[in-house]
Amino acid sequence: MLSEKAKEAIRVQMKRYPVSRSALGHALYIAQEECGGWVPGEAVKDIAEVMGMDPADVQSMMSFYVMYNKAPTGKYLIEVCHNISCALLGAKLLFDVLERKCHLHPGETSEDGLFTLKGVECSAACGGAPAVQINGLFYENCTPQQLEALIEQCRAEGAPKENLYNAAYTPERTPKDGA
Ligand code: FES
Repeated sequence: MLSEKAKEAIRVQMKRYPVSRSALGHALYIAQEECGGWVPGEAVKDIAEVMGMDPADVQSMMSFYVMYNKAPTGKYLIEVCHNISCALLGAKLLFDVLERKCHLHPGETSEDGLFTLKGVECSAACGGAPAVQINGLFYENCTPQQLEALIEQCRAEGAPKENLYNAAYTPERTPKDGA
């Protein structure tokens, strides 16, 4: 499942910590990128083998954190924060835009496979509420009009140029070049 390149990238991360299992978060990001945006069970097993861990421990971390996707996603992962600051400042209007323009509710992927919508808890961007992330890129103080324009931009592009959510952990980047 995971390529030798990805496994080596995990080993590089392991060396950065006094306790190598502390690199598990990085390992999951590497696997997620390699597997096209989610972490399948086979990748969990590979991570466990590389890191000398129990697969159940890898699985429990993967399932706990929302940033690791448990199923395939669309090309554009749209995350709309619905926690208190964003809720008070218009998150519902953003969900309405996604329902109207893409027929999407949280947890769904559009039929054309272009978009997946996640409703997320606080994205740590409360000062810019309501906050949206598309493939990890933040759009703060997002208005319905801005979100509509972003959706149209994604449709025009057809595929993301970069997945910033994972890019810091790509196997091509190692600590020596700033990851
Ligand atoms: S409540 Fe939405 S970013 Fe914090």
